[in-house]
Amino acid sequence: MSIRIVIDAVAVAGTALLLGTSLWATAQQDPATASAPRVIEVVAKRFTFEPAKIEITEGERIRLMVSSADGVHGIEIKKFKVNKAVPRGGEPVAIDFVASAPGTYEILCSEYCGDGHEAMTGSLVVIAKSKGKD
Ligand code: CUA
Repeated sequence: MSIRIVIDAVAVAGTALLLGTSLWATAQQDPATASAPRVIEVVAKRFTFEPAKIEITEGERIRLMVSSADGVHGIEIKKFKVNKAVPRGGEPVAIDFVASAPGTYEILCSEYCGDGHEAMTGSLVVIAKSKGKD
């Protein structure tokens, strides 16, 4: 009798664990229900952004934490009205926006930083919601 109770308790605990895990996974996958923005760290340096390609999902709230590995740079994404200077010294700049429309958008350096400044670009890929669920 007592063994039976222990087995039931283990089964219940196991079910709760599975349920908890699947709820957590759902919250991670659905940006609309997420309470906090998705934080993406970006490093600007002569003359690249790392990562050079950022993939996000339509509707996601994004917080870019952009820091410089050398001198002054800037980060500009025209579509989402992002344009901020990134100071030297590595202190990150927080940039919040909502990925409101799918597409591929150029990330530009908006502060002159040397001979490679014009070539310092990256891309932001916003995946349409229906495709992003797979
Ligand atoms: Cu980096 Cu201009």
